[in-house]
Amino acid sequence: MLTLEEIFPPFALAISCGPVELRVMRDDDLPELVELVRGGIQAPGLPMPFLRAWHEEPFAPGAPEGFPTTSLWWWWTQRATFAPDEWRLALVVRRDGELVGMQDLHAQHFAQTRTVMTGSWLGRAHQGRGTGTLMRQLVVGFAFDELGADRCESGYIAGNLASAAVSRKVGYVDDGRRRTVQHTRQGVVGVDEQRVTVTPATFVRPDAPVSVQGAEALRRFLGVDRTPAA
Ligand SMILES: CC(C)(COP(=O)(O)OP(=O)(O)OC[C@H]1O[C@@H](n2cnc3c(N)ncnc32)[C@H](O)[C@@H]1OP(=O)(O)O)[C@@H](O)C(=O)NCCC(=O)NCCS
Repeated sequence: MLTLEEIFPPFALAISCGPVELRVMRDDDLPELVELVRGGIQAPGLPMPFLRAWHEEPFAPGAPEGFPTTSLWWWWTQRATFAPDEWRLALVVRRDGELVGMQDLHAQHFAQTRTVMTGSWLGRAHQGRGTGTLMRQLVVGFAFDELGADRCESGYIAGNLASAAVSRKVGYVDDGRRRTVQHTRQGVVGVDEQRVTVTPATFVRPDAPVSVQGAEALRRFLGVDRTPAA
């Protein structure tokens, strides 16, 4: 009988460095994930970081709306919509085994664009210890080294100084601002989003060695045809 990892290769991916490990979210992670979100994400004094305030939805387990049901829809969508033209990896981040946040990696028409996009968050209690920088370095390094990406794009709401600092430390350069909207609990508001881009030329790698498992099967599954240079 095949293992779950053989059936769905994203589950075989593991990217780690020091105490931090990234793996594609499984249903077994959900209780810890829900608990983490309930502990809060937004740092005091910084703007609401997301385009939609999913983390502030009323807590209503077992109900058709509210958190966590609306978030389950999003997390499961990332798994359910895998295709070579558009894929999303929802990676749970563990530090010393404890679930501390999520790091997403997403691409559209990767074979043609060689571009990936990222989004990430950590529970409040786990911020400010370098984890946010390391998890972004891990996913960007994975995109460059294992998938043969040429650029990684991200963006943050103007004034999100923690995200700006992470982007700077990982080697991203500013790539313009765009006016967009945020869906907050109080309604839809206009905000500026700072776009940022990192390329292999500017990327700042982690200090410690990185280990990647499951990349070969994932490349086949994503239809990534170019084996990256060793
Ligand atoms: C953004 C986030 C992922 C960063 O993770 P982290 O583990 O806290 O980041 P690190 O500890 O690696 O680095 C944080 C940097 O932000 C800086 N920072 C944090 N809060 C800050 C503030 N209020 N003002 C200025 N700088 C701040 C820290 O000083 C540090 O930079 P330094 O190392 O140069 O001093 C995390 O803070 C988070 O989840 N925030 C809420 C969600 C979010 O903003 N997600 C990103 C959406 S684009």
